[in-house]
Amino acid sequence: MLEGAVRWVQRHVLASGGIAISSQQRVAYPEVTGYYVPTLLGLGERDLARAFADWLVTVQRADGSFGGPGAEESFAFDTGQVVRGWTAMLPTHPELATPLRRACDWLLAAGDAATGRLPVPRPGAAWSLGGRGEVSEAIHLYVLAPLAAAGDLLDEPRYRRFAERGRDYYLGAVDCTRFDAPNHLTHFYAYVQEALLELGCQDEARRGMADVARWQQENGAVPAYSDVPWVCATGIAQLAGVWFRLGETARAERALAFLAALQNPSGGFFGSYGVGAAYFPDQEPSWGVKYAIEAEHRRIASHFDATADQYRPEIAADDGRVRAVLAAFGDLGARRVLDAGAGKGRYAALLKRTFPSAEVTALDVSAEMLRHVPPGITTVRHSLLDMPFPDASFDAVLCVEALEHAVRIPEAVRELARVLAPGGTLVVIDKNRAQLGALAMPTWERWFDPEELLTLLRALGLSAEVGGVGYDGREADGLFLCWTARKLRAASRPISCDAAAGAAL
Ligand SMILES: C[S@@+](CC[C@H](N)C(=O)[O-])C[C@H]1O[C@@H](n2cnc3c(N)ncnc32)[C@H](O)[C@@H]1O
Repeated sequence: MLEGAVRWVQRHVLASGGIAISSQQRVAYPEVTGYYVPTLLGLGERDLARAFADWLVTVQRADGSFGGPGAEESFAFDTGQVVRGWTAMLPTHPELATPLRRACDWLLAAGDAATGRLPVPRPGAAWSLGGRGEVSEAIHLYVLAPLAAAGDLLDEPRYRRFAERGRDYYLGAVDCTRFDAPNHLTHFYAYVQEALLELGCQDEARRGMADVARWQQENGAVPAYSDVPWVCATGIAQLAGVWFRLGETARAERALAFLAALQNPSGGFFGSYGVGAAYFPDQEPSWGVKYAIEAEHRRIASHFDATADQYRPEIAADDGRVRAVLAAFGDLGARRVLDAGAGKGRYAALLKRTFPSAEVTALDVSAEMLRHVPPGITTVRHSLLDMPFPDASFDAVLCVEALEHAVRIPEAVRELARVLAPGGTLVVIDKNRAQLGALAMPTWERWFDPEELLTLLRALGLSAEVGGVGYDGREADGLFLCWTARKLRAASRPISCDAAAGAAL
């Protein structure tokens, strides 16, 4: 499903900037372009994410706000999703601070300072659902976490304070946890549930998701509204993502399997399917694809959260893989070291013990795995496809049995190379494709041909070699391979997207 969805995105990026509203409406949609930025980063598509972020700067209104395509009115929801995109991009693109601050300032000026309530479109206009009333204003919860995050990054505590007031207002004023209201389309309801999680309202999100779960069918489907027979594909993708985040894996898997069966040959999804379908039934909205991509990513993180107790927190100092890492890195002294896909940080911990002055960072998508990383090591919960570090941040980068889960391999390798400083060393240890079948593995896992990764690394301008390594007390038997790559001190050419074998979107 993922690669089809990515192809759909490729075909709906507009030459003039931004992402199209849908398969039928090739008009750029700022709100959706904004919230695609973190999705693209999560796919390793940093250049396109950057292009989206930059295009949004060009269409920002004089007062800092954003509206819908062709609409004169400015909308808090739309502006909030641009804030979401720019906030995701800010750690690597600090020049976005000024437009981001303007968008946040507009939200605070447009909202009610006392309650944190944001303005809604006038009745009968952009949020009208006809006989079902208006979209619930609780979807404005989905603006608040990005606003708070922007406040933290920009050192503007008033953004976070506004977001906290707003969270309390919506929780008090609107029923966020009952699905059977006439205006609760799964798509809107799921915005609210995801926002509750983002805002740390775990209990409310659990309640809201337990409520909508009462409508889920055995085949994974959830009706678009509680009283209709048709489904909203976007809503199902979003619900799957939230169920994964809550550890409701079986439910999420069922929803995702149902969604996968709906995917059109184009890689997109109609807005809705079934008798009486009334939400973009003959168009593929761009946001449906976004949430399908995100649910697939959540699935992997959730797998590791759920199975964390099966992974060892330590590794023997004489393990063949450890010996290979130490030999490749040499004396790390006070160097900056990244363990990407660190799991419980068993390699990071060993490196820290061996070189106490080294600054060691452990990055992983799984919070449950990172919980076991010992003190003294910085932990970062993020995908290795999208690392929140500037270029050349580390002198040594390690990636052991994690690239195999990254799904978008050329993009992941490019990201590992990006954060490596000139003169630095990257070590990737993973399994050999020739040994496929030797161990059970989840469906998304990939093993590698030795030449495949060498080609990717060399295309990025790194010198690289590969060899077998021993593991778990065994001598090298061909199952594990170790790729060692070095970045030249003065790179002969800059690393760009096009240099990697993977096509940019
Ligand atoms: C088999 S474990 C290996 C952990 C560690 N490197 C070790 O050898 O002990 C794979 C790890 O990769 C992490 N992972 C999977 N996909 C990832 C991604 N896209 N970005 C970062 N970590 C990821 C998982 O959460 C898991 O902790």
